[in-house]
Amino acid sequence: MSRRKPTKGVKHTAGLEMMDRIRIVGGNKLDGVIPISGAKNAALPLMIASLLTSQKLVLNNVPRLADVRQLQLILENHGVDITAQPAPGSDELSGQCLEFSTPVISDTCAPYELVSAMRASFWVIGPLLAREHEARVSLPGGCAIGTRPVDFFLDGLSALGAEIEIDEGYVVAKAPRGGLVGAKLRFPKVSVGATHVVMMAATLARGTTIIENAAQEPEVGNLARCLIAMGAKISGIDSPRLVVEGVESLHGAVFDVLPDRIETGTYAFAVAMTGGNVLLANARPENLRAALDVLELTGVALEEEEGGLRVIASGQRARAVDVETQPFPGFPTDLQAQYMALMTRSTGTAKIRETIFENRFMHVAELARFGAQISVEGQVATVKGVPELQGAQVMATDLRASVSLVIAGLAAKGETIVNRIYHLDRGFERLEDKLSRCGAEINRLRD
Ligand code: EPZ
Repeated sequence: MSRRKPTKGVKHTAGLEMMDRIRIVGGNKLDGVIPISGAKNAALPLMIASLLTSQKLVLNNVPRLADVRQLQLILENHGVDITAQPAPGSDELSGQCLEFSTPVISDTCAPYELVSAMRASFWVIGPLLAREHEARVSLPGGCAIGTRPVDFFLDGLSALGAEIEIDEGYVVAKAPRGGLVGAKLRFPKVSVGATHVVMMAATLARGTTIIENAAQEPEVGNLARCLIAMGAKISGIDSPRLVVEGVESLHGAVFDVLPDRIETGTYAFAVAMTGGNVLLANARPENLRAALDVLELTGVALEEEEGGLRVIASGQRARAVDVETQPFPGFPTDLQAQYMALMTRSTGTAKIRETIFENRFMHVAELARFGAQISVEGQVATVKGVPELQGAQVMATDLRASVSLVIAGLAAKGETIVNRIYHLDRGFERLEDKLSRCGAEINRLRD
């Protein structure tokens, strides 16, 4: 039953270290090996998929991140029992192995306090509705990078027969008697989250669902493959047309979280910025081809090796290359800020167009503190390269913006302090450890 009640015994943040700062002294080249962790944006929907079955879902290579801990709290609120298992080939660099078990969904309400802490938690609406035929989930609201509405989710679930109402800031969704029903639908614009949710919901619907203009991001493919391992019938994976044939129930599975393509790109841009020679272990270059093509045009050498991707850069100023963010397989919006950091020291002028989110340039003002010359007009930032950046006190504003400041700090002259790094902890595992092992002077200041 859906219950409207304050969530008992649930902490509403996952213990973020709110006041920690990162100190960097720039100028060192990066040399060595950086292990790429499991992808945050793959792990989150996979964890949510555990709600679809009463059996055990075991996920390997789950990154140790604040967003993962936050989602654990959210899932526990629905009755999911989560236990950490010894990771296969366990060493300090391997991801976690988490086991999720939900014999019974104890609560179909996802309260405001939990959903507002992390937008992706809204995605529980798909599995709750599919399995329990009802859900009451708080609207996630806007966030620092834009308004981020949920209309595609609601239209998609309505197409599967759900009745949807908005009640005091909550989406109240009810499936028809007998459950959701397969349907043909087309998203007006590519949405990763809406594709995840409708695909999960359709696995338990009666009949066939066809999703046109589906997101093709590797994380969507990762989720689809996990759902298949759980007994779902899905075809068209990695294409814009997904076909899901509903089944009676899903069963348990063991599945690996994909290596993080955004973390891979972030460290590749960091090496491009500082110069050096780094192997990004476990990286899958095929999942960020557009970004790597741009990186090569800027003057960086890339070598695909067994076990990862090697990035070799001279440390000279990069060539300026224009970029436009696009859904996969285009240049990812989640690497736009990091790329802008690289362009601040280019030998020319680069235009960076953000087409996915309407407000994803908050890092511009912070990069300017390093002496970067950037002007913004609408969705286009024009970055005029300068010969040298100066270390500065800066403030992290969102996850990817934060790490762009770290990249700038690694190349800047003198000391940089990045404040409010709890954003970084949401999505980058042991960032300062990974970079300092490759020679960067970077450490965390705990207040
Ligand atoms: C996912 O967000 C990622 N989050 C984001 O990563 C990423 O930036 C984004 O996809 C795009 O690649 C996770 O995977 C947890 P969307 P999502 O729905 O699914 C509009 C990071 O830094 N839209 O693909 O929320 C929306 O406003 C994060 O790790 C609607 O209009 O993004 C945006 O303009 C940030 N209505 C566009 O679609 C809707 O109902 C694409 O958003 C849904 C989306």
